Amino acid sequence: MGYSVTTPIFYVNAAPHLGHAYSTIVADVLARNHRQRGDDVFFLTGTDEHGEPVANVARDRGITPQELVDENAPKFQAMGPVLESSNDFFIRTSDPRHKAAVQEILTTVKENGWVYEGQYEGWYCPKCADFKTESEIAEGNTCPIHGVPLLRESETNWFFKLSAFQERLEQLYADRPDWVVPQSRRNEALAFIKGGLQDVSLSRNQITWGVEVPWDLDHVFYVWWDALLNYVTALRFGRDGEDLTASHWPATHVIGKDILKFHTIYWPALLMAAELEVPTRVMVGGFLLVGGTKMSKSLGNVLDPFDAIEQYGADAVRFYLLREVAFGSDGSVSLEGLKLRYESELANDFGNLASRSTAMVRRYRDSVVPDVAVDPVVAASFAGLGDTVSRMLDDGQISQALEAIWERVRLLNRFVEEQAPWTLAKAEKVDPTSEGFDPDELTRATADLDRVLRTLVEGVRVLAVLLHPWLPSSTVVLLDALNVPDLAWSGAELGTGAAGAVGDLAPLFPKDRAAA
Ligand code: MSP
Repeated sequence: MGYSVTTPIFYVNAAPHLGHAYSTIVADVLARNHRQRGDDVFFLTGTDEHGEPVANVARDRGITPQELVDENAPKFQAMGPVLESSNDFFIRTSDPRHKAAVQEILTTVKENGWVYEGQYEGWYCPKCADFKTESEIAEGNTCPIHGVPLLRESETNWFFKLSAFQERLEQLYADRPDWVVPQSRRNEALAFIKGGLQDVSLSRNQITWGVEVPWDLDHVFYVWWDALLNYVTALRFGRDGEDLTASHWPATHVIGKDILKFHTIYWPALLMAAELEVPTRVMVGGFLLVGGTKMSKSLGNVLDPFDAIEQYGADAVRFYLLREVAFGSDGSVSLEGLKLRYESELANDFGNLASRSTAMVRRYRDSVVPDVAVDPVVAASFAGLGDTVSRMLDDGQISQALEAIWERVRLLNRFVEEQAPWTLAKAEKVDPTSEGFDPDELTRATADLDRVLRTLVEGVRVLAVLLHPWLPSSTVVLLDALNVPDLAWSGAELGTGAAGAVGDLAPLFPKDRAAA
């Protein structure tokens, strides 16, 4: 089955930071989970290269906008592999194929009767590239997101008849109450719609850096329409020799809360106007904060993803961000917080569980996992976990899904302590000539130790399959050491793994990394 997931496309007027990395990691978790489920995944990310912010930075630096985007887009492109993002394509909106598709789709929208020429008069934030409605203006005519003064704009524009979609949008929200998650964001979007939609500019004529309006060459399309359309234009050329539109649209969008209006109001209305299906779901994340304020290039308080990853590795940074900040809420992040979670959860809870489980199989069973049934109590607690995690991910409950898995990490740690395999191993070693020797006790100890070891290795294997979307490298290393490299989600059931020989396993999350 085709499955598409997207990140927002990033503005290229500065370098990437962890706030950008966050949506990429969330989308990557969804993409990897679906690949493991056997879907034909198309995971899309890219850069939003038109509009005023880019044109202004280029002008200040005395270079052309194209030179600026050619300089900066590769920095975002380079972020993917560093984060272990498995995106299938990276779209740049200055790509001529994208531009041609934008022109074609928006011409259809015009032919369908949703476009007219008019006079725009109102407030505009150059940082958001957003025409603000009355309810979106902060004190002193400033932008509520960036705090900068809004500009009074007056120009002849082509308009999109957004107001004509009021009822259809309300119907969409009524028919599919969870098409925007979490609920708080859905309610916010719906309240905006119910407040009454006004038509919005489709084009600008005081800007030249953009996609030309084919029926009026003095205009370029307003950058948000050009940007939003990337999600469908990329399907035409994102996979060599194929057009994925029929098999891979609609998509799931992962976005940040500051771009809610565009994705949950403008975008579905535009798709309706173009007679295309609306997205499967829009998942809205909160902000990563540093010391309580939004991490942002304009505020100058960004954490560099490349530095954090160099020290702790991509797996740890991915895990930390998604575990520390409940998806949908804002949350503070710091290098100290990363170190703490690295040590307590990755190195101790998970890494150590994997190390001790494999070490005990080497020591007590000559590296061969006993081919016996798994512990029924542990099996019951794992039963159906794969389905639960998949459902949660599809519903945008990213943090809940990770917590559901982590509960089993803790459960297995308790299981080792309670079953004390080292005591069972001692009981096995008892001298048959010693006084009071009970052969039944020996048989029991052996059977118990077999069951405990098999359960531990199986548990660790299932955890590795389930955690793979969050920890793509270390889980592969672990599964290789267990000699069961299969990542298929159907294998996330305790007892379905082969009981073979285990190999050596170096610490997955070495403590000296965190000490540095
Ligand atoms: N170009 C537009 C998106 C167009 S999508 C058709 C844009 N770009 S952006 O580079 O400013 O932001 C990209 C994404 O990064 C947004 O979803 C935004 O919410 C997210 N983040 C930027 N800073 C962030 C944090 N500090 N924390 C979490 N996400 C943040 O908007």
